[in-house]
Amino acid sequence: MGVYGKTKGTELESFVNMAVSAESMGGMMYYALSDIAERFGLKDVVEQLTGLGNQEMRHAVYYATLNGKYPGDTESFWKVIHGIGKAVFMGGRACERVRGNARRGRAGRRRIGSTEIRFAGTPPR
Ligand SMILES: [Fe+2]
Repeated sequence: MGVYGKTKGTELESFVNMAVSAESMGGMMYYALSDIAERFGLKDVVEQLTGLGNQEMRHAVYYATLNGKYPGDTESFWKVIHGIGKAVFMGGRACERVRGNARRGRAGRRRIGSTEIRFAGTPPR
């Protein structure tokens, strides 16, 4: 599996984790700037910034792979994919409920996994 997990459990693991974060933040920055450039109608700039964002995210993936951050076997891979599908579905339903309650002016809270979201609601119009 190439470089998969080579730094996991070594003295390099925390440094490599920082590299994952730094590269991810770089990718996010380029994507955000790309969105802004799109609003300005700068098509060429959008393509360049998106390309840079893709490169940074590939770097993040490389470092994540070094640390074995994501599963390296088929069974664990599908567990993660299944979990993501469930989380997206549940997150989407929770967001719909929050939006609905806010529209009706209801305050409340909603738990998504270990995170509690509180919302004030808005007065009904
Ligand atoms: Fe990079």
